[in-house]
This record gives sequence, structure tokens and C-alpha cells, in this order.
Amino acid sequence: MPPKLISDAKRRTHPLVWLAALLCTVVSIAVIIGGIVIFIGYLVIHPRVPMIGIIDAHLDNFQNDIAGRLEVQLTVVVKAENDNAKAHASFSDTSFFLHFLGIKIAQLVARDFDVRKNGSLMLHYEVASNSIPLTPEQMEEVDYALKSDVSRFDLIGDTRVQWRVGLLGSVKYRCHLHCVLKFHPSNGTYFSPPCSSRAK
Ligand SMILES: *[C@@H]1O[C@H](CO)[C@@H](O)[C@H](O)[C@H]1NC(C)=O
Ligand SMILES: *[C@@H]1O[C@H](CO)[C@@H](O)[C@H](O)[C@H]1NC(C)=O
Repeated sequence: MPPKLISDAKRRTHPLVWLAALLCTVVSIAVIIGGIVIFIGYLVIHPRVPMIGIIDAHLDNFQNDIAGRLEVQLTVVVKAENDNAKAHASFSDTSFFLHFLGIKIAQLVARDFDVRKNGSLMLHYEVASNSIPLTPEQMEEVDYALKSDVSRFDLIGDTRVQWRVGLLGSVKYRCHLHCVLKFHPSNGTYFSPPCSSRAK
């Protein structure tokens, strides 16, 4: 009896397997090219989140009268910044509250505005609050602030910003700002670390 010969004919790769391999290769190359295109697009457009921050302030008046009412007058300069070289940014619903000892003493608002490409815009606020009623404890705090020559305010609020990121379309974003404003009441000098809405 002759030994059974195993035919090699069946070992040939099925055409469907070739087709699958070809499809896999094409898909992989497409994914790689797509990734490179998005990466280069990102480098070219270089999207930056627009932001707001406090760049300067001055305390013009800070005293309490005999009746226990506080008088405050101060200047705050808020900067809206758009570092995008290819897209302008629109800011809307801008509103901040100025707090002193937990009391909301003023609201600072701005009309909707645009910041051009790679530009910035300053918002100057003059805040004057008279006759803020204080409790005896709060009056003591004011006395202490005057004695130690340090007064502290909090500026809290936000703005909505919208800008275009290349062909990806429009991005809407809420910028939140919470800054501590410290002054020397004797000469009104502002001294606080830089404060902005930039994500840390
Ligand atoms: C953006 O502005 C800065 C200075 O404000 C300038 O040095 C820079 O060249 C500008 N970039 C573009 C792309 O316009
Ligand atoms: C304001 O007063 C503080 C402390 O009294 C002092 O450190 C600061 O240099 C003064 N600033 C100016 C501009 O006089």
C-alpha cells in the first residue's frame, strides 16, 4: 500500500484573507494620516482658551463713619485676553460681584464685546459704595484692617466666551474668576498675586 500523499494545493491563502489584510492596511494608514492631519492642524491653528484676569486695582477710599456705615471707592482693571492668532473671541454675560466681609457691595457688569485675534481688551471699573451698614463685629474688622493697613476684597464672577477653532467650529466656554484683592488702605496700593481664569 503506497503512503498517502498530502496535497499542498489546499495550503494556498484564501483570496478573502488577502482582501481582509488589504482592508486592515488601508484602514491603519487612513488612521495614521488622519492623526497627522489633526496634529498639524492643531499646530497651525494653535487654539488657546481666551481668558480674563485682574491686572490692576486701586483703593481710593475706605473708611467707616461714626454711624457704622462703610464707604468704599475703588478701581479695578480687568483684562480680557485672546491669544488665538486666527480667531476672534466674543465675550458675553460678563458679571462680577465685589464682596467685602461676605457682603456683596457692588456688581460689575460689561456689555457683550469682542476681542480681536491675538488681542486684548481692558475693562475699567470704578466702584463707589456709600453707606454700607455694618454690624459691630464688621466695624471691628474694618478698624483692624485700617490698623494693620491691609484690607481684603473678593471679586467673584464669570463670563461666557465663544471662539472658533479652525474648521472644528465654534467653542463656547464659561470663564470663572475668583480673585482676592488686597490693598494697603493708607495709600490705596494694590498687592495681590496675579489672578486670572486660566485653568491651572
Ligand atoms: C501677537 O501679539 C504679540 C504681541 O502682542 C506679537 O509679538 C506676536 O507676534 C503676535 N502674533 C501674531 C501671530 O500676530
Ligand atoms: C504703600 O504702603 C505700603 C505699606 O504701608 C508700602 O509697602 C508701599 O510701598 C506703599 N506704596 C506706595 C506706592 O507708596
